[in-house]
Amino acid sequence: PVLVVDYGAQYAQLIARRVREAKVYSEIVPHTLSTEQLLAKNPAAIILSGGPSSVYAEGAPVVPRDLFEAGVPVLGICYGFQGMSLAMGGEVAQTGLREYGSTETTILSQENPLLQGVSDHKSWMSHGDSVSRAPEGFEVLASTAGAPVAAIANEEKCLYGVQWHPEVKHSEGGQRILENFLYNGAGLEPNWTTGSIVDEQVERIREQIGDSRVICGLSGGVDSAVAAALVQRAVGDQLTCVFVNHGLLREGEAEQVERDFVAATGAKLYVANEQERFLNALAGVSDPETKRKIIGREFIRAFEEAERAIIAEAASEGESIKFLVQGTLYPDVVESGGGEGTANIKSHHNVGGLPEDLQFELVEPLRTLFKDEVRAVGAQLGLPAEIVGRQPFPGPGLGIRIVGEITSDRLELLRKADAIARAELTAAGLDGEVWQMPVVLLADVRSVGVQGDGRSYGHPIVLRPVSSEDAMTADWSRLPYDLLARISNRITNEVDGVNRVVLDVTSKPPGTIEWE
Ligand code: XMP
Repeated sequence: PVLVVDYGAQYAQLIARRVREAKVYSEIVPHTLSTEQLLAKNPAAIILSGGPSSVYAEGAPVVPRDLFEAGVPVLGICYGFQGMSLAMGGEVAQTGLREYGSTETTILSQENPLLQGVSDHKSWMSHGDSVSRAPEGFEVLASTAGAPVAAIANEEKCLYGVQWHPEVKHSEGGQRILENFLYNGAGLEPNWTTGSIVDEQVERIREQIGDSRVICGLSGGVDSAVAAALVQRAVGDQLTCVFVNHGLLREGEAEQVERDFVAATGAKLYVANEQERFLNALAGVSDPETKRKIIGREFIRAFEEAERAIIAEAASEGESIKFLVQGTLYPDVVESGGGEGTANIKSHHNVGGLPEDLQFELVEPLRTLFKDEVRAVGAQLGLPAEIVGRQPFPGPGLGIRIVGEITSDRLELLRKADAIARAELTAAGLDGEVWQMPVVLLADVRSVGVQGDGRSYGHPIVLRPVSSEDAMTADWSRLPYDLLARISNRITNEVDGVNRVVLDVTSKPPGTIEWE
């Protein structure tokens, strides 16, 4: 792989993604690994990321010199560039000047693998210190007002550095520079494609599972569907998928799993229809956290019952089930290294996820993939666009989009309103702009309206369209007024019991995306 050494900024994941966009496999590793540990991973090339500190700050990670003597091509970016310069005998000055944002960058030479075809442009900068003298044996390739040495190369040793952030979309030509490094500098081939991912994962899954049996919980979401489809491709009928229908899904979603998923993959599916069970358990409950806990608890119980039924069935055929598929993604793997001590704002319950004390060995075929790669793999496996293109949807489903008690009538009403809002958003071609659009029923609120010839006393529906990168922060989406008008008209006309549609114009923070 290409190793992206994370020096603690938020850019390492972005770099890894850009490398993969160049069809070269990359992995993120912490800067605390020794050179020996890095080299043990057999890197085809190494990219050193930016970092938040000055190379002179107390406790700042040191970029070790021996990293550059192993014959592995290296590209240093920002902090990584300064660390490389220092390690190789150059000078880094604490100028006290900061360059931040889009910066005029002068290219001094294109006669090198890194900047071939790259001319003067605006690059994205974020640095305080700057390299004041390039190390011996290095050529200076670019400069800016605040950074006279903004890019360097030692072609012979295949060592390169740039002060700016080519991985950021605001850096014009940034992708070209990364590709130049990978293809021209390191001599790598762009052969990490969706097809090759599928082949590789299928082989690994076969190796892990052998001829044992395996089960996989489907939530209706993208990750579990793609993970299951991969395992199905690898081991066919050794896989049984389990779908617990809790009755809190949106219109058409249960059918999507029961019909479309099975049609596309040919997977064996065990459906547990548990709508009644969930409604009964939730009767009389309005408190959001209590709802979440009940849904989580019932889900686990329902899943375990389904599991026991499947295990018993397998046992009657003299087989046992040893493996459980999970749709863990790469960011979870990277982030579980850090991020401790974050406050529990809401008790997130991942319906794909299961209790930890299960006696299964885990199969995690998406562990190395980012979300967009998971979608591409899903499409490659023939899953329909409605499944692979799905927006995120919370495990507890519509249960946390009814403010107030959950009843089957209210679920029915919310499903209709939600289907209208989604259909209009799609018809307006705006699915790509909106990260997620919860539609919320304020079941405890009623307001007076006039509908037809008379007074109505109905519930409001809230539209909550948001844009976001990772759901940690979000902004409300500025949807066109005529689209909002169409949604409002249709919902108030077509959904009995609703006489008002309102728009949520709160960012996160202070609001969360969901209402409960
Ligand atoms: P909040 O409301 O916390 O939501 O801003 C952030 C993102 O997480 C989703 N969400 C959940 N997803 N189980 C899930 O799988 C949950 O319990 C859950 N609660 C919220 C929410 O839809 C948004 O994308």
